[in-house]
Amino acid sequence: MLTRRSLLSGAAAGVLTPKTKAAVEDLPLRQRAAKSGRSYGCAAGSYQLRDADFAPVLAREAGVLVPEYELKRLIVEPTPGHFDFSGADVLIAFAAAHGMTMRGHTLVWYAANPDWLEAAVLAAPDEDILTGYVTGMVQRYRGRIQSWDIVNEAIQPDDGRPDGLRDCFWLKRYGPSYIDHAYFAARQADLTAQLVYNDWGCEGGEAWNDRFRATTLKFLEGALARKVPIDALGLQGHLAAFHGSVNQRKLRAFLDEVRAMGLKILVTEHDVDDSGGPSDIAVRDRAVADASARFFDVVLDNTAATDVLTWGLTDRYLKAPGGLRSMLSGYTPRKLPLDANLKRKPMWYAMSQALAAEHGIR
Ligand code: XIL
Repeated sequence: MLTRRSLLSGAAAGVLTPKTKAAVEDLPLRQRAAKSGRSYGCAAGSYQLRDADFAPVLAREAGVLVPEYELKRLIVEPTPGHFDFSGADVLIAFAAAHGMTMRGHTLVWYAANPDWLEAAVLAAPDEDILTGYVTGMVQRYRGRIQSWDIVNEAIQPDDGRPDGLRDCFWLKRYGPSYIDHAYFAARQADLTAQLVYNDWGCEGGEAWNDRFRATTLKFLEGALARKVPIDALGLQGHLAAFHGSVNQRKLRAFLDEVRAMGLKILVTEHDVDDSGGPSDIAVRDRAVADASARFFDVVLDNTAATDVLTWGLTDRYLKAPGGLRSMLSGYTPRKLPLDANLKRKPMWYAMSQALAAEHGIR
């Protein structure tokens, strides 16, 4: 499906000879993005770097890396006061060796925590278990991690609070100010890192997405009014090809308001769930690419949106969902730009075109 952006970027490329045009369109995503002043990268696990086929492809395609799970407190602090940075440090070394920047994900979340943390927070005599951890992590990686998801998924309107915040253990112990204090601690620990508030739920067109967007805007406006040092909104970008879809009008209006606040916009975890579709792989891959194109048709029209990451680069490491039906059908997810053999899929081409298109094409 041609989108407005692909038509225009195609027209722009029309001035190139077919051979040059093919060469430009074949450029890795990190180079295509850089040509339009953007960046592209992906999440990875350090174990993937031991895959001799994959590591060079990752270095070719990604200009930004984010640890999929190895900077989460579950991995970093498995027992109180004992830290394991090994996985994250392997990824950071790989990024440095290949001219990539690094994103840190995530320091304050209601999930992916060690078993001991929630009880310890609820019994904590002060904020050190929160702000001390943020300070220590950001200081440790100062100069090596350029952008952080300090707080992740703090919004959940369905929890019924007037402020629409998630009623998680952080909020139960410290109140809503836990968010502000996490960002103030991060800024004090690193004066230049980009501090991002990361969440999901703002992409779709259903009533719950409307509530999510309204709550997110109210939260961001309030935080900025309190001078909380949030530099950008992280839009996770987890989409689905066959159930629910991006509402382009609502998403565009939402992102225009985020930009008007002076915030940058990152797509931090993009992938397209292809479950629920037909068994025909070509049909699934096309639907995934079209969902991605419709999403970036809006997001990358916004001049505040410059960084795009997918939640992985290849289908190779994706696990089939549990359950008998999935097992019997032999379904394996095809959510990412490269297939399990590291071959570029229609999603890769859709993203390549979107990343190359100039900003602000209306
Ligand atoms: C997931 C990872 O993919 C898993 O490997 C990990 O075990 C749990 O977290 N939103 C987020 C990501 O912000 O951190 C989550 O990633 C997916 C949902």
